Amino acid sequence: MLVKTHCYALHGIDAIHVTVEVNISPGVKFFLVGLPDNAVKESQQRIESALSSIGLRFPGKRIIINMAPADIRKEGSSYDVTLATGILSAQGIISDKLLNDYVVMGELSLDGSLKPVKGALSIAIQAKNDGFKGVVFPIENCKEASVVEGLEVYSAESIRDVIDFFNQEKELFQHKYDLFDFNRETDAFGEDFSDVKGQESVKRAFEVAAAGGHNIILVGPPGSGKTMLAKRLPGILPPFTLGESLETTKIHSVAGKTDFKFQLMTKRPFRSPHSSSSDAALIGGGAYPQPGEISLAHNGVLFLDELPEFKRFVLEVLRQPLEDRKVTVSRARFSVEYPASVMLVASMNPCPCGYYSHPEKECVCPAGAVKKYMSRISGPLLDRIDIHVEVLPVKFNQLSSEQKGETSKEIRKRIIKARELQAKRFDKYPSVYCNAQMSASMLQHYCKIGEKGKMLIKTAMQKLGLSARAYDRILKLSRTIADLDGKETIEPLHLAEAIQYRSLDREGWGN
Ligand SMILES: Nc1ncnc2c1ncn2[C@@H]1O[C@H](COP(=O)(O)OP(=O)(O)OP(=O)(O)O)[C@@H](O)[C@H]1O
Ligand SMILES: [Mg+2]
Ligand SMILES: [Zn+2]
Repeated sequence: MLVKTHCYALHGIDAIHVTVEVNISPGVKFFLVGLPDNAVKESQQRIESALSSIGLRFPGKRIIINMAPADIRKEGSSYDVTLATGILSAQGIISDKLLNDYVVMGELSLDGSLKPVKGALSIAIQAKNDGFKGVVFPIENCKEASVVEGLEVYSAESIRDVIDFFNQEKELFQHKYDLFDFNRETDAFGEDFSDVKGQESVKRAFEVAAAGGHNIILVGPPGSGKTMLAKRLPGILPPFTLGESLETTKIHSVAGKTDFKFQLMTKRPFRSPHSSSSDAALIGGGAYPQPGEISLAHNGVLFLDELPEFKRFVLEVLRQPLEDRKVTVSRARFSVEYPASVMLVASMNPCPCGYYSHPEKECVCPAGAVKKYMSRISGPLLDRIDIHVEVLPVKFNQLSSEQKGETSKEIRKRIIKARELQAKRFDKYPSVYCNAQMSASMLQHYCKIGEKGKMLIKTAMQKLGLSARAYDRILKLSRTIADLDGKETIEPLHLAEAIQYRSLDREGWGN
C-alpha cells in the first residue's frame, strides 16, 4: 500500500515542502531515497527502537520510502516522526484519513518520545501558505509555531500520541496565539545607562547611534568603560516590532537557538562573539549552512569587543554583509541567504599598550606602532562605521559621585520619537526602518542641506583632513541628529555634531 505524509526541509530560513511516500510490499529490504543525508538514513534504527518501546514491530517487509522533491537535500533527524507515521500508515496501524491535512515532524528518542526540530516557525508559516490545516510538533516547537494565525498547532509527547491523533482516538493539546507575552516582554530592561557616571558625550553618541541605527566604534584605554557602555545599548533601542521579531525568531529557530519558553523573541538580540571566532561562526556557513553571529544579531546589535583582536581576514568578510544587510552562503549545488541587518558596535584600544591619548598615563608603544595598530582595521571597514567616539576614563570624583545619570528609559523615549519620524519617512520602502539603512539615492533625497551647510562641511573636510568617504556618513548622521531634534531640515548645528563623529577619518591619527 502506498501512503503519503508531509514535512518540510529547510533552505536558508525558508521551509520547502517535502512529501514522504511509503510503499510496503512483500520482501525484506529497506530503501530510503530522495537525497537524504546520513542522519536521515539512520532514522531506521531510531524508528525501530521507538516502535518497540510501545510494543510495535518494524515491519519485516520490503519498504521503499521516497522523499520528494529529490533535488532538495534532507538533513538531520527531524524527519523521524514523518517517516514513522508513513510506515505505520502503510501497515494500516495509522488511518490515512488526516495524513494529507497535517504536517507531522519531530526527532524520535529511542524510548518513543519526541524531540524538537529546527525551524518550526518557518515550517509553520509555509505549511499555512501551502494550505495545511495544521501541524503536529514536539511540545518545544509549539509556542513559536502557534504564532501563525489560522493554523492548528498540536503538541505530541510521543509516537503513541501521534498514532492516537491520526486515528482520532485522543485529542492533543492545541496551542493558541497569545500576544500578551510579547507585549509584556518587549518592555523589560536589563543593565541601565544610569549606572554609567559622567561620559555625557559618549552617551550622546550612543543616543544618536540608537536613534538612526548607526554603526559605532569606541576607542579608548583599558577600563574607560567601553564594554560597560556597549552592554547598555539594547536598553535604549526601540522596542521590537512584531514583524522584526518574526524575522529574527525565524533565524534563531533555524539555527536551533530558540528559547522554547517564548512564542517569539521579545528583545532585540545582542550578540557578542569572541575575537577568536572563525569567519563561518561570524557570517555563517559550513557544509550544512547555518546562520552566523551577524544573522543571529539581525534587527539587533552585533558587538565586536576588542576589534583588532579579530583575525583580519574575518573582519574583511564582514564588510559585504554589513553593506548588503544579508549573507549569501554559496555551495557547489546551491546557495542560501540569511538576513543580517545589524547595528555594529565595536570597541578598541587606541594602541597596543592601550594608553595613547590617555590624559594621565603615558603610552609606551614604539614609534609607528600606533599607526600600525590602527591600520589593522581597514579603511573599508571603518567606512561602514558611521560614528567614531573616543572614550576617556572618567575622573575619580565623577566615579565616586552619588549622582545618578539619566535612565535608559528616559533616553529611549527620545529615540522612539526619532524612530517614529523615520518610520513615516520610509513607509513606502519595505525593508528600510531607520536612517542608517538609506541607499545612496535616498540619501540625496532625504538629506538635503543648504548652502551654509555645504560650506560648513567643505571647511571641516579641508581643516580636519576628512576623507571623501566621510561625506555621506556625515549627511546620514546629521539626518538622525535633526530627527532627535524634531526638525525636518538639517541645520548647520546638526552637521557640526555629525562632523565630530568622524575622528578616525582625520588624517594624522597615530602619527
Ligand atoms: N563611567 C563609569 N561609570 C561607572 N563605572 C565605570 C565607568 N567607567 C568604568 N567603570 C568601571 O570600570 C569597569 C571597567 O570598564 P570596562 O570593562 O567597560 O572598560 P573597557 O573600556 O571595556 O576596558 P578594556 O579596554 O580593558 O576592555 C566597569 O565594569 C565599571 O565598573
Ligand atoms: Mg572592554
Ligand atoms: Zn601605547
